[in-house]
Amino acid sequence: MKNLLTLFASLCMVFLFGCASPNTGTEAGHAGVFEGKPRINAPHVVGNYPSTPFLFYIPTSGLRPVTWSAENLPDGLALNPETGIISGSVKKAGVYAVKLTAKNPLGSTAQNLTISIGNDLALTPPMGWNSWNTFGQHLTEALIIETADAMIANGMRDLGYTYINIDDFWQLVDRGEDGRMQINREKFPNGIKHVADYLHARGFKLGIYSDAAERTCGGVCGSYGYEDIDALDFAAWGVDYLKYDYCGAPQKREVAIERYSAMGKALRKTDRSIVYSICEWGINQPWLWAKGVGGHCWRTTWDIRDRWMSPTYTNETNGVLNIIGINGDLDQYAGPGGWNDPDMLIVGISGKSQSINHGDVKEGCSDEQYRSHMSMWAMMAAPLLCGNDVRNMSAVTLETLTNPEIIAINQDALGKQGQRKINTEALEVWVKELSDGSKAIACLNKTGNPVDLRLGKGGIISIGTNAEIRDVWTHRNLGKIQSLDVHLSPYECKVYTVK
Ligand code: GLA
Repeated sequence: MKNLLTLFASLCMVFLFGCASPNTGTEAGHAGVFEGKPRINAPHVVGNYPSTPFLFYIPTSGLRPVTWSAENLPDGLALNPETGIISGSVKKAGVYAVKLTAKNPLGSTAQNLTISIGNDLALTPPMGWNSWNTFGQHLTEALIIETADAMIANGMRDLGYTYINIDDFWQLVDRGEDGRMQINREKFPNGIKHVADYLHARGFKLGIYSDAAERTCGGVCGSYGYEDIDALDFAAWGVDYLKYDYCGAPQKREVAIERYSAMGKALRKTDRSIVYSICEWGINQPWLWAKGVGGHCWRTTWDIRDRWMSPTYTNETNGVLNIIGINGDLDQYAGPGGWNDPDMLIVGISGKSQSINHGDVKEGCSDEQYRSHMSMWAMMAAPLLCGNDVRNMSAVTLETLTNPEIIAINQDALGKQGQRKINTEALEVWVKELSDGSKAIACLNKTGNPVDLRLGKGGIISIGTNAEIRDVWTHRNLGKIQSLDVHLSPYECKVYTVK
């Protein structure tokens, strides 16, 4: 009887939703990552230094199997049509316009990819995963490998999450007698190169962590005075990204510039294209000098904690809103090759962090708050480095992290950080210019009460006349309209594209 009732209830649901879904005549609905025709996701521009290893997995959603092809690849690069990985090395600097195609049993799609060989990396904000926010000191080779496998299986790799970054605690406290940093073999029994090889074979890149002093924030070995030796080791292991912290170093701008430039130069002398992430938490205004010392992104704030908001901005308690508050004023400093970094994502951590830094504050956020956090990091052209346990996450968390339209706003090739246009106690409205001449608008409700506003004619922000508006969280075109009344639920952030 109970089964019959359940069946009846399910049939009613199908009937109800089948009939009730509004006929918008638009592209409503968002297929799962591995459903439907192929779609080549962002980024559509990638940079690499000349004569260094190039690696790019073409992030592609759609039903499997997919096969890829490429036209006009520069000399030195080849695409594996079965894996979607472009690799090799290009000697000649230049901007190469490549045409990619992805085919699956349901169809085929083409997409341009600009490969820029020169002095710039990170032409769009780096995307990936970092061990710190959830795992802290508890990181191992098995964790990294399982994370990579999970990011393939759950589709994150196909949404552009590329870097898998090992944070603090991969190394021992002391250098070896040969002056070299020592890998903690209990955690990484086969060394770092073994992990890098595993990741590279699957189109991921590997990040590592060190510090511009003798010891890191966690008290293990840092690189100060050994920059050249360490950079060469990182390169020999196949590292693609270095996060360089600042614990234990003097809090003076000249010293920060000197220490960061020593590592910047050391990385540049290696034979790899290594993204350089400067992590001195914004105290010496790195947005003014970090790019000049070789940095590709620079932290603008103290660490993020797994929460929506701290009553005050401190180095131990900040949540999403505290960080938006500061990073939001720095838009003029961000651009292709050099990004403001408002710290890593906390989406889906939900109070489960084991990191010492998160020990005191782990209240977590609601799904709505995490979605708003994701939206705002996209609008701020921030690096999208998630930090949850991707081996085990809810469907809502995965959906929050893998919305291709939100990611496309973040990864847009124009590389403009959104501007905060309206900032009241309850509401922020942000506008981000996009490379096709359109713009993204985000309306963020910071509070636990609903907020109503109007965009466009008679409203608080112009949207132009006859604008084509799309809601990128519901995946619905709202048509050509003069104005839009927006209702924001508590903590909601609505994001629109306006063409
Ligand atoms: C600092 C950084 C964090 C993390 C820890 C590791 O606090 O800001 O992101 O790397 O160190 O100890």
